[in-house]
Amino acid sequence: MKESTLDSLDTSASPASLDLRARAETVMARCHALDRFSEESGRLTRRYGTPALRAAQDEVAGWMIGAGMSVHRDAVGNLFGRYPASAEDAPALLIGSHLDSVSDAGRFDGPLGVICAVSAVEALHAADVRLDHAIEVAAFADEEGVRFGSAYLGSRTVTGDLGERDLALTDRDGVSFAEAIRTFGGDPDGVAASRREPADLLGYLEVHIEQGPELEAHGLPVGVVSAIVGFTRVAVEFTGHAGHAGTVPMGRRRDALVAAAAFVLAAESIAAAEPGAVATVGELTVSPGAGNVVPGAVRLSLDLRHPDDATRLRLRDQLETEARAIGAAREIGVGWRPAYDNPAVPADAAMAGRLEAAIAALGVPVHRLPSGAGHDAAALSAIVPAAMLFVRCAGGISHHPAESVAVDDIAVALGVLDRAIAGPFGS
Ligand code: GLV
Ligand code: MN
Ligand code: MN
Repeated sequence: MKESTLDSLDTSASPASLDLRARAETVMARCHALDRFSEESGRLTRRYGTPALRAAQDEVAGWMIGAGMSVHRDAVGNLFGRYPASAEDAPALLIGSHLDSVSDAGRFDGPLGVICAVSAVEALHAADVRLDHAIEVAAFADEEGVRFGSAYLGSRTVTGDLGERDLALTDRDGVSFAEAIRTFGGDPDGVAASRREPADLLGYLEVHIEQGPELEAHGLPVGVVSAIVGFTRVAVEFTGHAGHAGTVPMGRRRDALVAAAAFVLAAESIAAAEPGAVATVGELTVSPGAGNVVPGAVRLSLDLRHPDDATRLRLRDQLETEARAIGAAREIGVGWRPAYDNPAVPADAAMAGRLEAAIAALGVPVHRLPSGAGHDAAALSAIVPAAMLFVRCAGGISHHPAESVAVDDIAVALGVLDRAIAGPFGS
């Protein structure tokens, strides 16, 4: 298939006054600039509630203010920049993504969408343009759910979906989400009041790297997400008995890690036997955690996904049954604590249509593709029409430091975003 390049695009109708390529270079430079806000030196890790995330937010807040926005944080510490409409009290279109990351992350997963959104407002501000609606740029504080084994804790604050169960979730050090909110300068008691009124919002648009190989295979810079996969996250605990590695005979052990290992293999084979299913155990905490001690307890994360919700829930139940059977056979206690279940979410047709019209206006073939990754748009779609624009990434690599995006593709995404956020919204 023919490669779409920036040079072949019709950018003449862009409402932005600045050149798309120059803006894309700024977006790229800013994505790189956020590298320095990390919990670990030499690796990009920016989990919810950490000083690294706060520092990244402060940097982005500076860019928002420079783009003519007023900034505020809500009760969990999501950052918002608001660019006013031509008339007071007009509803806002929400655009953005997240600033938290997985451990040893790439630099584009999340920040690309936030920074493209800032760029779109910056272009309006530079041209002294006010739209009929306000634009709010959202920089969500927890999308990945890495710290608390959940997901979308930031965007679910906006939708009013967070409850006591979420606030009681603990990280691997036993710190609760409620405590982490306080440390981050927020207020767990204010979470309910941070819910946004759907009537105040026109919808949500998110730019994100694809994190898969499809756009690259089609030679396309961007594509429109058709649906976002549903997923389940569970904290699983195996509790046996710690003991001396040199003196407890093999036949008398209740080794929690051996049970956990059997479960990891069961998760692999159960998912492999179901077309479209993926199951991942990405985090294991072994206690007491010493080379000469039989493991007494293991806490592990389970992430299970399937495009069909009923299939995912059936596999979830099958995995729970399997975990309990493994525990029973080895006299190991099994704790099964569901942390999050999110259904698959189709894109809103009208919002996706805005993106498609914008892509077509740029002379790029319109391509729709599903997302196997989770996104804030999935959470937001519970209260507003939501859609996503994917940007091609090299080799489909993501959740890895080698994640990469081309400047020209960012420029196309900006051209699409400029158009999609402007113009009238249906009543
Ligand atoms: C988020 O990136 C997820 O899909 O886990
Ligand atoms: Mn991610
Ligand atoms: Mn992401």
